[in-house]
Amino acid sequence: MKNGLKHLKKFIAEHEESIIVLVDKHTYALCYPLLHLNLPYILVPYGENYKNLNSCEYIWKKLVELNANRETTLLCLGGGVLCDMGAFAGTCYQRGMSLALAPTSLLAMVDASIGGKNGVDFLGFKNYIGTFSKPSQTFICPKFLNTLPYLELVNGYVEMLKHGLIADRLHYDQVKLFFLKERHELLPQLIYDSIGIKTQLVEEDFRDLGVRRRLNFGHTIGHAIEANSLSVSEENQALSHGVAVALGMVVESYISHKMTGLSSDQLNEISTVLSGIVKSVYNEIPEIDELMPYLKRDKKNHNHLINCTLIKQIGEANQDYEVEEDLIKAGLDYLKSLK
Ligand SMILES: NC(=O)c1ccc[n+]([C@@H]2O[C@H](COP(=O)([O-])OP(=O)(O)OC[C@H]3O[C@@H](n4cnc5c(N)ncnc54)[C@H](O)[C@@H]3O)[C@@H](O)[C@H]2O)c1
Repeated sequence: MKNGLKHLKKFIAEHEESIIVLVDKHTYALCYPLLHLNLPYILVPYGENYKNLNSCEYIWKKLVELNANRETTLLCLGGGVLCDMGAFAGTCYQRGMSLALAPTSLLAMVDASIGGKNGVDFLGFKNYIGTFSKPSQTFICPKFLNTLPYLELVNGYVEMLKHGLIADRLHYDQVKLFFLKERHELLPQLIYDSIGIKTQLVEEDFRDLGVRRRLNFGHTIGHAIEANSLSVSEENQALSHGVAVALGMVVESYISHKMTGLSSDQLNEISTVLSGIVKSVYNEIPEIDELMPYLKRDKKNHNHLINCTLIKQIGEANQDYEVEEDLIKAGLDYLKSLK
């Protein structure tokens, strides 16, 4: 992993003849110009609705048209959707072309571009088709965040809070205070700290069979809320990944309170912070019956039982708890009571 736009520009200068950039409308208009180079590019639509095999097929056709081969580098310049999908498309193209990620959203910098998971949604289920494979280069350039809309910054903030909640109380407190006080000069260090927490778990368990699953805190319920919202909303009107995960973290904190002894004080603390972020979407919280089809098909389940990561206290998580439907329903009721 390299930090800073300077390194990205140097990499491009050294490989200029063999780079194709993958962009969406926003990153083409706002991030691509910062590279100051005229590189061939593939433009895909933005948004989770387009994170699918149809978009991959489009990318593969364009790669063929541009005469890409295994030595060509696909440089994914975008948020988590574009990095997940571009890395998957590049991994499959000719059984694997060279890949570089330049995440441009906060969420993609601290989470989606780290750890080698890539993929697309399928039949309404999140990230159902994909692979584990590491890019050859990842460039973290906080300068791209200057144009990121505030609501998108919040999505990254949620994942950074998650890193603190599962592994590091101090990081949780620092991220929380940073966003309350908006001290922008502190952001790069907090980004690297968040990446450090994720990287450590990934290095211990690349294939996601053990401790890496702690990163799923909030995601069992969050992914179900996100998938349900994608299925019922107009294009690009669905709840964002970060907001859905924030809602999921409140529900899973409630479940943690009941199952692993998370204290009432810490449950209140987490609920207050997260509900401050997502208060505008309380009317969109689904019923348990709407979530069950997604929860039953979650990739993390064993023996068809719903599997969650839970926290014992802020900064300490454990993976692989089997959670009953009734308790999830109680957690959703608790979430609605915060309105
Ligand atoms: N692979 C993983 O380990 C992992 C981890 C977490 C999340 N994810 C995935 O990440 C996705 C969410 O990522 P996201 O929140 O970045 O969403 P996103 O990729 O949809 O980006 C959000 C929006 O911001 C725009 N944008 C991106 N960078 C910009 C910039 N610098 N300036 C202006 N606009 C910009 C995008 O065009 C898009 O409209 C989900 O699909 C989720 O499943 C993957």
